[in-house]
Amino acid sequence: MPITTCIFDAYGTLFDVAAAARQAAQEPQFPQLADRWADLANSWRLKQLQYTWLRAVADAHDDFWEVTQNGLDWALEASGLDGDAVLRQRLLDLYWELQAYAEVPAMLAALKQAGLSTAILSNGSPAMLNGAVQSAGIGDVLDDVLSVESVGIFKPDARVYDLVGARFNCAREEVLFVSSNGWDAAGASGYGFVTAWVNRAGEPVDRLPWKPAHILPDLTTIPDLAKG
Ligand code: LAC
Repeated sequence: MPITTCIFDAYGTLFDVAAAARQAAQEPQFPQLADRWADLANSWRLKQLQYTWLRAVADAHDDFWEVTQNGLDWALEASGLDGDAVLRQRLLDLYWELQAYAEVPAMLAALKQAGLSTAILSNGSPAMLNGAVQSAGIGDVLDDVLSVESVGIFKPDARVYDLVGARFNCAREEVLFVSSNGWDAAGASGYGFVTAWVNRAGEPVDRLPWKPAHILPDLTTIPDLAKG
């Protein structure tokens, strides 16, 4: 069945989640980040994701902005940077304007040019996603931005992936779901989407019951993959 609908994870896939700590480290008022920004970015991201999974399993949902702040507070303390309120606020502000990966605008434009539907499906809250989309200037090459907040649980719960069929009235096999998060690509494969895992860091495949259909180094070949 041909692909009609291309769905993208947001954080880590379209937007570079390490960009906030990397950018703050380049600002003169934060010399304390110089040799710690990469570790801070990694532990912030890992804790943020762990908290989504734990909240989903425990039926204790709160939105991704709360979880993002919780993850940052854990990471700042682990890096010995807790108590630095100015740094904390700067990192949180930067999270609302994360850089998109360089190939994102042209890739989305090519999908629209080919007549495919495009959307984000993300754990992010609607306000956070709106901030990132506006900042990256990609609103006009996306048909929609779907947030888990409309179902009140995080990925990889099937109710999240159900949002795609409800919005675009398409079969699961018509959807190319693209994520840099191996567990998200795996979950979406289990759900029945055609999946592409964007593995920029060359990580091992997640040992889960489902595997991504495609593994790509970046997003540049997505239009070719979608057009078949
Ligand atoms: C998202 C997280 C998983 O955007 O990166 O849904």
